[in-house]
Amino acid sequence: MDKILIHGGRRLSGSIKVSGSKNSSLPILAATLLTREPCVVHGVPDLSDTNYMLQILAHLGAQVERASGTVTVTAGKIHCVAPYDVVRKMRASVCVLGPLLGRCKEASVALPGGCVIGDRPIDLHLKGFEALGSAVRVEGGDIKVCAQIDMQGKFGPTVLGTDNVIMAAVLADGVTVIEGAACEPEVVDLANFLNKMGAKIAGAGTDRIVIEGVRELHGAEHRVIPDRIEAGTFLVAGAIAGDGVTVKRVDPEHVCAVTDALAKCGYAVDIAGDSISVLPNGDASALEIVTEPYPGFPTDMQAQMCALLSTNRGTSSVTENIFPQRYMHVAELKRMGAELRLEGATAVIEGVDSLLGAPVMASDLRASAALVLAGLKADGVTEVSRVYHIDRGYEHLDEKLQELGAHIERVKSE
Ligand code: EPZ
Repeated sequence: MDKILIHGGRRLSGSIKVSGSKNSSLPILAATLLTREPCVVHGVPDLSDTNYMLQILAHLGAQVERASGTVTVTAGKIHCVAPYDVVRKMRASVCVLGPLLGRCKEASVALPGGCVIGDRPIDLHLKGFEALGSAVRVEGGDIKVCAQIDMQGKFGPTVLGTDNVIMAAVLADGVTVIEGAACEPEVVDLANFLNKMGAKIAGAGTDRIVIEGVRELHGAEHRVIPDRIEAGTFLVAGAIAGDGVTVKRVDPEHVCAVTDALAKCGYAVDIAGDSISVLPNGDASALEIVTEPYPGFPTDMQAQMCALLSTNRGTSSVTENIFPQRYMHVAELKRMGAELRLEGATAVIEGVDSLLGAPVMASDLRASAALVLAGLKADGVTEVSRVYHIDRGYEHLDEKLQELGAHIERVKSE
């Protein structure tokens, strides 16, 4: 397994271009199953997760071609069974359920496995499918209502659950109303792609989405939105070890919770069109953060902020409302001299003057990124093992950081 070595203390400067969104690409690639015609998706990042989704589509019978960031999928003739050995590696595989239901009116997908960031149930997905199945027909009325579905769970709305029900409903007979829908930009991106395919979806980006079923969908061409979590990760890199880092090709609205948080700490954030720059602040202060569904502070940026706040003066707190156990990074940051303690779903962070490089272990995608960020700031060398976690969701993270001046190298394991 590869390792990443970060020789801390180097200052970063310059700019990087954000790749296409992983969390937009996955449901959009799954949505190509909804038509027999070719779909062309641009800006699909070269990640193990997106490549794994392409393997699943091929396993289901679709023709898949990738040319750099452009993927062409033709799901001419598909079957509707995705067995465990195909879906076990990636929880997001669950988002093929909706399009298979929509296209084949049946689907068999192995339950996704566990996940280190916490319990990953799909009860809300299934509740949505059941509601679709129990279509309420207003006999003699003008419209057959498919279903009224509430996608709110105790931790807020479900992103992939909203995606799944949308994809199952676009070919259903009648109108489906989703209440308590997720409002993430990736849901909007999926709805935009589906509407290009001929779907009739209104309200994406709000908590009430109305889908009027159509008979069939046609092929479409689409470019996925920039990855707001990659953008946020590089903005934190600029804050923790930068002398002026600019992130290009990002939608500032999608990252405003992160830029607001950085500004509150005292970092100067400059937004110009689709570029955002963050300037250093030697006396950045503490902060209280609570993760929430979009447009609140994203859970996928929680670990990265823990790394940053570990080196800001004062006592900070981070409360994780989406995945309360998502703190695999805390023990590893403590190995580097950070002072954090967990109080339930809240991490209390005492800022320290410096961190010390150490061998640390990646555990999940965003925790791994947090360890790399801490390594940029730390004195000495930080060795992050199991970097396959990073490769799941960041396209060439180490190379992009090198472009900014980091002394970072990937050590191929034997
Ligand atoms: C998406 O996961 C993202 N993944 C996650 O990003 C992200 O952390 C998460 O949304 C929250 O923003 C992709 O888009 C591929 P959820 P998803 O269903 O949709 C509970 C990353 O690092 N829940 O919105 O699977 C669940 O336990 C990944 O890129 C139910 O209770 O997450 C959680 O507490 C990690 N029942 C909350 O809802 C359900 O049926 C939000 O989960 C579904 C979810």
